[in-house]
Amino acid sequence: MTIAKAVNEQRLWQRHMDLAQIGATAKGGVNREAFTPEEAEARKLLASWSEARGFTCAVDEIGNLFFRRAGSDADAAPVVTGSHIDSQPTGGKFDGAYGVLAGLEVLEAAEDSGITTKRPIEFVAWTNEEGGRFQPATMGSGVYTGAMDLEEMLSVKDRSGAVVRDLLPATLAATPNADKRPLGTKFAAYIEAHIEQGPILEMEDRTIGVVTGIQGTRWFAIEVEGAEAHAGTTPFSARRDAFRAAHAMIAEMYELTVDDKDILRFTVGCFEVSPGSPNTVPGHVYFTLDIRHPDGAFLTELGDKVEEVCKRNAGGLPFKVRETYNVPPIQFDADVVGRIRDCTKALNLSHRDMISGALHDAKYMNDVCPAGMIFVPCEKGISHNEIEAANPADLAAGARVLAEAMIALANQ
Ligand code: GLV
Ligand code: MN
Ligand code: MN
Repeated sequence: MTIAKAVNEQRLWQRHMDLAQIGATAKGGVNREAFTPEEAEARKLLASWSEARGFTCAVDEIGNLFFRRAGSDADAAPVVTGSHIDSQPTGGKFDGAYGVLAGLEVLEAAEDSGITTKRPIEFVAWTNEEGGRFQPATMGSGVYTGAMDLEEMLSVKDRSGAVVRDLLPATLAATPNADKRPLGTKFAAYIEAHIEQGPILEMEDRTIGVVTGIQGTRWFAIEVEGAEAHAGTTPFSARRDAFRAAHAMIAEMYELTVDDKDILRFTVGCFEVSPGSPNTVPGHVYFTLDIRHPDGAFLTELGDKVEEVCKRNAGGLPFKVRETYNVPPIQFDADVVGRIRDCTKALNLSHRDMISGALHDAKYMNDVCPAGMIFVPCEKGISHNEIEAANPADLAAGARVLAEAMIALANQ
Protein backbone atom coordinates (compact mmCIF):
# COMPACT_ATOMS: atom_id res chain seq x y z
CA MET A 1 0.00 0.00 0.00
CA THR A 2 1.25 3.52 -0.73
CA ILE A 3 1.23 5.98 2.13
CA ALA A 4 -1.38 8.16 0.37
CA LYS A 5 -3.90 5.29 0.45
CA ALA A 6 -3.35 4.86 4.17
CA VAL A 7 -4.30 8.49 4.93
CA ASN A 8 -7.61 8.22 6.75
CA GLU A 9 -9.97 11.11 5.97
CA GLN A 10 -12.42 10.27 8.73
CA ARG A 11 -9.75 9.99 11.41
CA LEU A 12 -8.13 13.26 10.34
CA TRP A 13 -11.49 15.04 10.45
CA GLN A 14 -12.41 13.57 13.85
CA ARG A 15 -9.06 14.70 15.30
CA HIS A 16 -9.90 18.28 14.22
CA MET A 17 -13.30 18.06 15.86
CA ASP A 18 -11.82 16.62 19.07
CA LEU A 19 -9.03 19.20 19.28
CA ALA A 20 -11.53 22.01 18.64
CA GLN A 21 -13.39 21.02 21.83
CA ILE A 22 -10.49 22.53 23.76
CA GLY A 23 -11.03 26.28 23.98
CA ALA A 24 -14.28 25.95 21.97
CA THR A 25 -16.21 29.21 21.57
CA ALA A 26 -19.95 29.69 21.31
CA LYS A 27 -19.68 30.69 17.63
CA GLY A 28 -17.96 27.43 16.66
CA GLY A 29 -14.34 28.54 16.75
CA VAL A 30 -11.58 28.27 19.32
CA ASN A 31 -9.87 30.58 21.77
CA ARG A 32 -6.60 28.81 22.55
CA GLU A 33 -3.93 31.47 22.72
CA ALA A 34 -0.34 30.51 23.49
CA PHE A 35 0.61 29.94 27.14
CA THR A 36 -3.00 29.45 28.28
CA PRO A 37 -4.41 26.42 30.14
CA GLU A 38 -6.38 25.60 26.98
CA GLU A 39 -3.26 25.39 24.85
CA ALA A 40 -1.63 23.19 27.51
CA GLU A 41 -4.70 20.93 27.43
CA ALA A 42 -4.40 20.64 23.65
CA ARG A 43 -0.76 19.60 24.07
CA LYS A 44 -1.86 16.83 26.42
CA LEU A 45 -4.34 15.54 23.87
CA LEU A 46 -1.71 15.49 21.10
CA ALA A 47 0.67 13.65 23.42
CA SER A 48 -1.96 11.05 24.32
CA TRP A 49 -2.76 10.34 20.65
CA SER A 50 0.92 10.08 19.82
CA GLU A 51 1.79 7.94 22.79
CA ALA A 52 -0.97 5.49 21.85
CA ARG A 53 0.80 4.98 18.51
CA GLY A 54 4.26 4.64 20.04
CA PHE A 55 5.65 7.95 18.78
CA THR A 56 8.26 9.59 21.00
CA CYS A 57 7.92 13.12 22.29
CA ALA A 58 10.46 15.90 22.83
CA VAL A 59 10.20 19.52 23.89
CA ASP A 60 12.68 22.41 23.78
CA GLU A 61 13.28 25.46 25.97
CA ILE A 62 10.58 27.62 24.36
CA GLY A 63 8.03 24.79 24.40
CA ASN A 64 8.13 23.62 20.78
CA LEU A 65 6.70 20.13 20.92
CA PHE A 66 7.99 17.34 18.62
CA PHE A 67 6.64 13.83 17.96
CA ARG A 68 8.79 11.29 16.14
CA ARG A 69 8.34 8.01 14.30
CA ALA A 70 11.71 6.32 14.16
CA GLY A 71 13.57 5.67 10.91
CA SER A 72 16.05 2.87 10.19
CA ASP A 73 18.97 5.29 10.65
CA ALA A 74 18.56 6.66 14.17
CA ASP A 75 21.33 9.23 13.62
CA ALA A 76 19.84 10.72 10.45
CA ALA A 77 18.25 14.17 10.68
CA PRO A 78 14.44 13.92 10.57
CA VAL A 79 12.04 15.08 7.88
CA VAL A 80 9.65 17.32 9.79
CA THR A 81 6.16 18.73 9.28
CA GLY A 82 3.89 20.69 11.60
CA SER A 83 2.35 24.05 12.40
CA HIS A 84 0.72 25.40 15.57
CA ILE A 85 -2.14 24.64 17.97
CA ASP A 86 -2.30 28.12 19.48
CA SER A 87 -5.06 30.29 18.00
CA GLN A 88 -6.21 33.84 17.62
CA PRO A 89 -8.50 34.99 20.49
CA THR A 90 -11.40 34.44 18.10
CA GLY A 91 -9.78 31.78 15.92
CA GLY A 92 -11.06 28.88 13.86
CA LYS A 93 -10.71 25.10 14.08
CA PHE A 94 -8.19 24.75 11.22
CA ASP A 95 -5.59 27.54 11.24
CA GLY A 96 -2.48 25.77 12.49
CA ALA A 97 -4.36 22.76 13.85
CA TYR A 98 -4.53 21.35 10.33
CA GLY A 99 -0.76 21.34 9.84
CA VAL A 100 -0.20 19.62 13.18
CA LEU A 101 -2.97 17.04 12.70
CA ALA A 102 -1.99 16.36 9.08
CA GLY A 103 1.47 15.61 10.50
CA LEU A 104 0.03 13.20 13.04
CA GLU A 105 -2.00 11.61 10.22
CA VAL A 106 1.17 11.09 8.13
CA LEU A 107 2.89 9.31 11.04
CA GLU A 108 -0.22 7.22 11.70
CA ALA A 109 -0.61 6.35 8.02
CA ALA A 110 3.04 5.27 7.92
CA GLU A 111 2.38 3.09 10.95
CA ASP A 112 -0.81 1.58 9.49
CA SER A 113 0.80 0.76 6.18
CA GLY A 114 4.01 -0.55 7.71
CA ILE A 115 6.12 1.79 5.58
CA THR A 116 9.67 2.20 6.82
CA THR A 117 11.85 5.22 6.20
CA LYS A 118 15.57 5.78 6.49
CA ARG A 119 15.16 9.09 8.29
CA PRO A 120 12.84 9.60 11.25
CA ILE A 121 9.65 11.50 10.40
CA GLU A 122 8.29 14.04 12.85
CA PHE A 123 5.53 16.53 13.41
CA VAL A 124 5.85 19.63 15.57
CA ALA A 125 3.51 22.07 17.30
CA TRP A 126 5.44 25.37 17.33
CA THR A 127 4.98 27.70 20.31
CA ASN A 128 3.09 30.99 19.95
CA GLU A 129 2.76 31.18 16.18
CA GLU A 130 -0.12 33.65 16.32
CA GLY A 131 1.42 36.35 18.48
CA GLY A 132 -1.96 37.87 19.32
CA ARG A 133 -1.16 38.25 23.00
CA PHE A 134 2.65 38.00 23.08
CA GLN A 135 4.49 39.65 20.18
CA PRO A 136 6.22 38.69 17.97
CA ALA A 137 4.37 35.92 16.12
CA THR A 138 6.23 32.72 15.11
CA MET A 139 8.09 32.94 18.41
CA GLY A 140 8.79 29.21 18.75
CA SER A 141 10.24 28.70 15.28
CA GLY A 142 12.11 32.01 15.50
CA VAL A 143 13.82 30.95 18.73
CA TYR A 144 14.45 27.41 17.43
CA THR A 145 16.49 28.71 14.49
CA GLY A 146 18.26 31.44 16.48
CA ALA A 147 16.58 34.27 14.56
CA MET A 148 15.00 35.35 17.87
CA ASP A 149 16.84 35.45 21.17
CA LEU A 150 15.55 33.01 23.82
CA GLU A 151 16.14 35.33 26.77
CA GLU A 152 14.52 38.25 24.99
CA MET A 153 11.46 36.16 24.11
CA LEU A 154 11.16 34.81 27.67
CA SER A 155 10.96 38.43 28.82
CA VAL A 156 8.13 39.40 26.45
CA LYS A 157 5.08 40.81 28.28
CA ASP A 158 1.44 40.96 27.28
CA ARG A 159 -0.66 44.15 27.75
CA SER A 160 -1.49 43.19 31.33
CA GLY A 161 2.17 42.68 32.25
CA ALA A 162 2.16 38.84 32.25
CA VAL A 163 5.58 37.51 31.19
CA VAL A 164 6.30 34.50 28.94
CA ARG A 165 8.93 33.23 31.41
CA ASP A 166 6.28 32.91 34.16
CA LEU A 167 3.70 31.14 31.96
CA LEU A 168 5.99 28.73 30.13
CA PRO A 169 6.41 26.22 33.01
CA ALA A 170 2.68 25.38 32.90
CA THR A 171 2.96 24.84 29.14
CA LEU A 172 5.96 22.53 29.62
CA ALA A 173 4.18 20.66 32.43
CA ALA A 174 1.59 19.45 29.90
CA THR A 175 4.10 16.89 28.58
CA PRO A 176 6.08 15.76 31.63
CA ASN A 177 7.48 12.67 29.88
CA ALA A 178 8.90 14.54 26.89
CA ASP A 179 12.64 14.34 26.25
CA LYS A 180 14.52 17.63 26.24
CA ARG A 181 15.60 18.70 22.76
CA PRO A 182 18.32 21.32 22.24
CA LEU A 183 17.21 24.36 20.24
CA GLY A 184 18.40 24.24 16.66
CA THR A 185 18.59 20.44 16.36
CA LYS A 186 18.93 19.89 12.60
CA PHE A 187 16.14 18.89 10.21
CA ALA A 188 16.73 17.26 6.80
CA ALA A 189 13.68 19.10 5.39
CA TYR A 190 10.46 20.78 6.56
CA ILE A 191 7.03 20.90 4.91
CA GLU A 192 4.05 22.67 6.49
CA ALA A 193 0.45 22.02 5.49
CA HIS A 194 -2.04 24.83 6.12
CA ILE A 195 -5.44 26.07 5.02
CA GLU A 196 -4.97 28.82 2.45
CA GLN A 197 -6.68 31.50 4.60
CA GLY A 198 -7.60 33.25 1.36
CA PRO A 199 -10.16 32.68 -1.42
CA ILE A 200 -8.07 31.73 -4.47
CA LEU A 201 -8.14 27.92 -4.39
CA GLU A 202 -11.88 27.84 -3.74
CA MET A 203 -12.60 30.45 -6.44
CA GLU A 204 -10.61 28.45 -8.99
CA ASP A 205 -11.94 25.12 -7.75
CA ARG A 206 -8.48 23.71 -7.09
CA THR A 207 -7.51 21.36 -4.27
CA ILE A 208 -3.82 22.06 -3.66
CA GLY A 209 -1.79 25.25 -3.46
CA VAL A 210 1.90 24.61 -4.10
CA VAL A 211 3.37 27.44 -2.06
CA THR A 212 6.47 29.02 -3.58
CA GLY A 213 7.10 31.71 -0.94
CA ILE A 214 5.69 34.04 1.74
CA GLN A 215 5.18 37.79 1.49
CA GLY A 216 7.03 40.05 3.95
CA THR A 217 5.56 41.50 7.16
CA ARG A 218 6.41 44.38 9.49
CA TRP A 219 4.63 45.05 12.79
CA PHE A 220 4.76 48.26 14.80
CA ALA A 221 3.47 49.05 18.31
CA ILE A 222 2.86 52.77 18.82
CA GLU A 223 2.10 54.68 22.01
CA VAL A 224 1.05 58.32 22.18
CA GLU A 225 1.26 60.20 25.45
CA GLY A 226 -1.24 63.02 26.01
CA ALA A 227 -2.79 64.43 29.18
CA GLU A 228 -6.13 63.49 30.71
CA ALA A 229 -8.49 66.45 31.00
CA HIS A 230 -12.19 67.21 31.46
CA ALA A 231 -14.07 66.76 28.15
CA GLY A 232 -16.60 69.48 28.99
CA THR A 233 -14.37 72.21 30.30
CA THR A 234 -11.04 71.93 28.48
CA PRO A 235 -10.79 74.11 25.33
CA PHE A 236 -9.15 72.56 22.27
CA SER A 237 -6.26 74.97 22.65
CA ALA A 238 -5.45 73.52 26.08
CA ARG A 239 -5.82 69.82 25.21
CA ARG A 240 -3.13 67.20 24.79
CA ASP A 241 -5.45 64.67 23.14
CA ALA A 242 -3.62 61.38 22.52
CA PHE A 243 -6.51 60.01 20.44
CA ARG A 244 -6.55 62.96 18.09
CA ALA A 245 -2.83 62.51 17.38
CA ALA A 246 -3.18 58.75 16.92
CA HIS A 247 -6.16 59.28 14.61
CA ALA A 248 -4.11 61.65 12.42
CA MET A 249 -1.19 59.19 12.30
CA ILE A 250 -3.46 56.36 11.22
CA ALA A 251 -5.29 58.54 8.69
CA GLU A 252 -2.02 59.35 6.94
CA MET A 253 -0.99 55.66 7.00
CA TYR A 254 -4.28 54.77 5.27
CA GLU A 255 -3.52 57.37 2.59
CA LEU A 256 -0.03 56.00 2.09
CA THR A 257 -1.29 52.43 1.76
CA VAL A 258 -3.83 52.97 -1.02
CA ASP A 259 -2.92 50.37 -3.66
CA ASP A 260 -4.85 50.15 -6.93
CA LYS A 261 -3.47 46.65 -7.53
CA ASP A 262 -4.69 45.52 -4.07
CA ILE A 263 -1.42 43.75 -3.28
CA LEU A 264 -0.37 45.79 -0.24
CA ARG A 265 -1.93 44.82 3.12
CA PHE A 266 -2.31 47.28 5.98
CA THR A 267 -4.12 46.64 9.27
CA VAL A 268 -4.62 48.48 12.55
CA GLY A 269 -5.50 45.43 14.66
CA CYS A 270 -5.19 46.81 18.19
CA PHE A 271 -6.34 50.18 19.43
CA GLU A 272 -6.60 51.11 23.10
CA VAL A 273 -7.71 54.50 24.40
CA SER A 274 -7.01 55.32 28.04
CA PRO A 275 -8.61 55.87 30.42
CA GLY A 276 -11.60 54.98 28.20
CA SER A 277 -14.21 57.30 29.64
CA PRO A 278 -16.65 59.36 27.50
CA ASN A 279 -15.96 62.56 29.37
CA THR A 280 -12.18 62.40 29.76
CA VAL A 281 -9.83 63.60 27.00
CA PRO A 282 -7.64 60.52 26.29
CA GLY A 283 -4.27 60.69 28.00
CA HIS A 284 -2.80 57.64 26.31
CA VAL A 285 -3.32 55.62 23.13
CA TYR A 286 -1.74 52.33 22.09
CA PHE A 287 -2.18 50.88 18.62
CA THR A 288 -0.53 48.41 16.27
CA LEU A 289 0.21 48.37 12.54
CA ASP A 290 0.57 45.23 10.42
CA ILE A 291 2.02 45.94 6.95
CA ARG A 292 2.64 43.23 4.33
CA HIS A 293 3.93 43.09 0.76
CA PRO A 294 5.67 40.51 -1.43
CA ASP A 295 8.31 43.06 -2.54
CA GLY A 296 10.96 43.42 0.16
CA ALA A 297 12.33 46.77 -1.01
CA PHE A 298 8.84 48.27 -1.12
CA LEU A 299 8.07 46.97 2.38
CA THR A 300 11.32 48.37 3.75
CA GLU A 301 10.64 51.78 2.27
CA LEU A 302 7.05 51.95 3.51
CA GLY A 303 7.80 50.60 6.99
CA ASP A 304 10.65 53.06 7.37
CA LYS A 305 8.15 55.90 6.90
CA VAL A 306 6.11 55.02 10.01
CA GLU A 307 8.27 57.02 12.41
CA GLU A 308 8.11 60.20 10.27
CA VAL A 309 4.34 59.84 9.74
CA CYS A 310 3.90 59.67 13.52
CA LYS A 311 6.15 62.67 14.04
CA ARG A 312 4.27 64.75 11.47
CA ASN A 313 0.92 64.01 13.09
CA ALA A 314 1.80 63.94 16.79
CA GLY A 315 0.86 67.59 17.30
CA GLY A 316 3.86 67.94 19.58
CA LEU A 317 2.86 65.05 21.86
CA PRO A 318 5.50 62.51 22.85
CA PHE A 319 5.13 59.14 21.12
CA LYS A 320 7.06 55.86 20.87
CA VAL A 321 7.28 53.61 17.81
CA ARG A 322 8.54 50.07 18.46
CA GLU A 323 8.99 47.62 15.61
CA THR A 324 7.90 44.27 17.06
CA TYR A 325 8.36 42.10 13.98
CA ASN A 326 10.18 42.35 10.67
CA VAL A 327 10.14 39.40 8.30
CA PRO A 328 11.27 39.94 4.71
CA PRO A 329 9.57 38.02 1.89
CA ILE A 330 11.00 34.56 1.22
CA GLN A 331 11.15 31.94 -1.55
CA PHE A 332 10.91 28.27 -0.61
CA ASP A 333 13.44 25.66 -1.68
CA ALA A 334 13.03 24.80 -5.37
CA ASP A 335 13.53 21.06 -4.83
CA VAL A 336 10.97 20.83 -2.05
CA VAL A 337 8.48 22.92 -4.02
CA GLY A 338 9.11 20.71 -7.07
CA ARG A 339 8.64 17.57 -4.97
CA ILE A 340 5.30 18.84 -3.63
CA ARG A 341 4.17 19.71 -7.17
CA ASP A 342 5.21 16.26 -8.46
CA CYS A 343 3.38 14.44 -5.65
CA THR A 344 0.27 16.56 -6.30
CA LYS A 345 0.36 15.64 -9.99
CA ALA A 346 0.95 11.95 -9.24
CA LEU A 347 -2.18 11.99 -7.06
CA ASN A 348 -4.14 13.66 -9.88
CA LEU A 349 -5.12 16.65 -7.77
CA SER A 350 -5.94 20.03 -9.29
CA HIS A 351 -3.39 22.62 -8.16
CA ARG A 352 -1.66 25.92 -8.73
CA ASP A 353 1.47 27.68 -7.52
CA MET A 354 0.86 30.56 -5.11
CA ILE A 355 2.57 32.73 -2.54
CA SER A 356 1.36 32.86 1.05
CA GLY A 357 -0.22 36.07 2.29
CA ALA A 358 -0.11 34.81 5.88
CA LEU A 359 2.97 34.17 7.94
CA HIS A 360 3.99 30.67 8.90
CA ASP A 361 6.68 28.91 10.91
CA ALA A 362 7.91 27.50 7.59
CA LYS A 363 9.49 30.93 7.06
CA TYR A 364 12.06 30.27 9.80
CA MET A 365 12.55 26.65 8.81
CA ASN A 366 13.38 27.86 5.30
CA ASP A 367 16.35 29.72 6.79
CA VAL A 368 17.90 26.51 8.12
CA CYS A 369 16.78 23.63 5.89
CA PRO A 370 15.03 22.97 2.56
CA ALA A 371 11.40 23.93 3.22
CA GLY A 372 8.03 24.27 1.50
CA MET A 373 4.30 24.47 2.16
CA ILE A 374 1.06 22.89 0.97
CA PHE A 375 -2.22 24.84 1.00
CA VAL A 376 -5.75 23.46 0.91
CA PRO A 377 -8.90 25.56 0.40
CA CYS A 378 -10.96 27.01 3.23
CA GLU A 379 -14.55 28.15 2.89
CA LYS A 380 -14.87 31.61 1.28
CA GLY A 381 -11.22 32.15 2.19
CA ILE A 382 -12.24 33.14 5.72
CA SER A 383 -9.68 32.72 8.51
CA HIS A 384 -8.83 34.42 11.82
CA ASN A 385 -12.55 34.11 12.41
CA GLU A 386 -14.56 31.63 14.44
CA ILE A 387 -16.57 30.58 11.39
CA GLU A 388 -13.44 29.39 9.52
CA ALA A 389 -14.37 26.13 7.76
CA ALA A 390 -12.74 23.49 5.55
CA ASN A 391 -13.79 20.35 3.79
CA PRO A 392 -12.74 16.86 5.05
CA ALA A 393 -11.85 15.67 1.53
CA ASP A 394 -9.58 18.66 0.89
CA LEU A 395 -7.85 18.24 4.24
CA ALA A 396 -7.22 14.58 3.44
CA ALA A 397 -5.96 15.43 -0.07
CA GLY A 398 -3.39 17.84 1.41
CA ALA A 399 -2.34 15.20 3.94
CA ARG A 400 -1.82 12.70 1.09
CA VAL A 401 0.46 15.09 -0.76
CA LEU A 402 2.30 15.78 2.49
CA ALA A 403 2.66 12.07 3.23
CA GLU A 404 4.04 11.21 -0.20
CA ALA A 405 6.48 14.13 -0.15
CA MET A 406 7.70 13.37 3.38
CA ILE A 407 8.25 9.66 2.73
CA ALA A 408 10.20 10.42 -0.45
CA LEU A 409 12.39 12.93 1.40
CA ALA A 410 12.82 10.59 4.36
CA ASN A 411 14.29 7.91 2.11
CA GLN A 412 16.85 10.22 0.53
C1 GLV B 1 -0.28 34.50 11.07
O1 GLV B 1 -1.35 34.04 11.45
C2 GLV B 1 -0.21 35.76 10.35
O2 GLV B 1 -0.38 36.80 10.99
O3 GLV B 1 -0.04 35.73 9.13
MN1 MN C 1 -1.55 29.52 11.03
MN1 MN D 1 -3.20 32.46 12.18
